[in-house]
Amino acid sequence: MKETFYVTTPIYYVNDLPHIGHAYTTIAADILARYYRLNGKEVFFLTGTDEHGQKVERAAKERGMTPKEHADKYVVNFKELWQSLNIKYDAFIRTTDETHKNIVQKVLQRLMDNSDIEKRTYKGMYCTPCERFWTQKDLIDGKCPDCGRPVDEIEESNYFFLMSKYHEKLINHIEENERFILPETRRNEVLGFLKANPLGDLCISRPKNRLAWGIPIPFDDDYVTYVWFDALTNYLSATFYLGPIWHQKKDIKDDDILHSSCWWPADHHLIGKDILTTHAVYWSTMLMAIGLAPPKNIFAHGWWTIEGKKMSKSLGNVIDPRDLAQRYGVDAFRFFLFREVPFGSDGDFSESAIIKRINVDLANDLGNLTSRITMMIGKYFDGTVPDSDSYDEDIKKMALQLKEKIDRHLQVLAFNKAIDEIWQLVSSLNKYIDSTQPWTLFGKRNDELKKVIYTLAEGLRFVALFLLPFMPQSAEKILRQLGIDGQFDLTRDNYWGFLKAGTKTHKGESLFPRIDTKKIEIEKNVSSGNIINIEDFSKVILKIGKVIEAERVAKSDKLIKLKVNTGEIRQIVAGIGKNYSPEELINKFIVVVCNLKPAKLMGIESQGMLLAASDSEGRLAILTTEREVSVGARIK
Ligand code: ME8
Ligand code: MG
Repeated sequence: MKETFYVTTPIYYVNDLPHIGHAYTTIAADILARYYRLNGKEVFFLTGTDEHGQKVERAAKERGMTPKEHADKYVVNFKELWQSLNIKYDAFIRTTDETHKNIVQKVLQRLMDNSDIEKRTYKGMYCTPCERFWTQKDLIDGKCPDCGRPVDEIEESNYFFLMSKYHEKLINHIEENERFILPETRRNEVLGFLKANPLGDLCISRPKNRLAWGIPIPFDDDYVTYVWFDALTNYLSATFYLGPIWHQKKDIKDDDILHSSCWWPADHHLIGKDILTTHAVYWSTMLMAIGLAPPKNIFAHGWWTIEGKKMSKSLGNVIDPRDLAQRYGVDAFRFFLFREVPFGSDGDFSESAIIKRINVDLANDLGNLTSRITMMIGKYFDGTVPDSDSYDEDIKKMALQLKEKIDRHLQVLAFNKAIDEIWQLVSSLNKYIDSTQPWTLFGKRNDELKKVIYTLAEGLRFVALFLLPFMPQSAEKILRQLGIDGQFDLTRDNYWGFLKAGTKTHKGESLFPRIDTKKIEIEKNVSSGNIINIEDFSKVILKIGKVIEAERVAKSDKLIKLKVNTGEIRQIVAGIGKNYSPEELINKFIVVVCNLKPAKLMGIESQGMLLAASDSEGRLAILTTEREVSVGARIK
């Protein structure tokens, strides 16, 4: 049987629309899935949605829906986004799936039977509006640290997973498995924390009267399951009913979960650093209690900020991945995310950064290389790959080493390093053109020309082959321009000489047109409603007026009261007193907004507004006409 590869993303809350962070993790999983499929592995790429719990219940309530109706509606946004970003997952799990719920209950029952779950009564400080418990020392002046409202001491019973039992075992597991938690800095953090602190037990139930939207606890009707216990179990439950090849069972028997499917343990759980504790600590100890191995790797990637700021709804800077993919192209967006920053580090998103990557790496380096090569094959060899029995040995060697290097980088999810290896070949090929100057060989040294052109074409094939996981559409386009179509397979195609002499090539359309920043600016304005049309503009009535009286407003150094003739006499109060004296304004021809709603400034009515330009130092200059026109003339 083929080797298997199982990769997961977090399952995302269906409380809101997907954003760039969700896209980031999911594209990462897609890159890995595509790479290992290309390498002949049997792949299971799982993503999905987290549909129970308070966040989802609350979001549904705010939108006037039941939690299930709300989940059914919001799950579509994720599925559509993944499709538009060219993400090929094998299964999409929803925690409201009946089989998943059933398996969560089986896990709970098993832990209960094994005395890994215990019911306990405790007292705590509860904030009713925030719906959460605080400890005495969390409180600020005896009030909720989140909302500042009073808290109540309440007594409650709940079920606890006895996580503390697995403290030592977890430490040992992390110490013995260097790649279990990556990047290394995160591994050290978790380890340091576990060694310095006792591990508490985990409350895994919620009383139904506080939260109804969850999986019922199988041994107590008054409780539902804590959302994280439910959510984490998805990685396991999916292997029983959604994994490819494995016998897909709908009817899971009680002890089925003791025998892991062919997909367990997972190769990688990809997550953001915000949810490392739940995965590294809760999930690993849950698996230990079930009697299953922890995943081979949990990778906590960094966070994206937007133009230097934390992304948040209140700042209004949440990035919609669909917009970016539409504006720059899906592949350019995928490329940018993984070229720009190492997967474990935080990154900053800005439009200027993505444009720079597109114009330099894609348009200039890769796009030009492709069009130069296909153009030369067209011009010198009538569009067919020439035959040659000698090649540039340095380029050949570099191409043949690519796989081993990329394998090594992707094992530790160093996507940017993998891309970098590909780009070194791109840049060597470009330099090779510059140094061999094929146009000087044409018609003179034909054997040399054949060698150069074959080396370039075959080198470009390697570039495109390894780019397939990162930029699937563009890489396929390049391969098609080289006359290669159909199924790609690294176990078969990774040798020098795959590209056969006589293959018909095509010069296709430009792969990555340079981005014109001005055009982008305009498009952004259009999509955000900042562009107005002529009808909008003509709503503003601008007229030429002549100043006939001017005097300062008492107790103000800024305001000047004017009488202006715009065909009718109107009073205007203008904030120009720091830059103009009343005397110098008399008899000036100025521009007046005539249909502005009258307003009062320091109690004085202003019937319109005059136009003035203001520079960065706050200096004002009144707009006037270039030559004398009659008062009341309309400005259009
Ligand atoms: O936490 N930069 O779901 P969620 C990068 N349902 N990635 C980001 C990000 C950012 N600024 N913001 C979010 C949940 N992410 C749980 C998970 S798993 C069993 C349950 C990504 O919808 C990152 O992957 O809040 C993070 O872990 C995930 O979105 C959280 O998504
Ligand atoms: Mg979150």
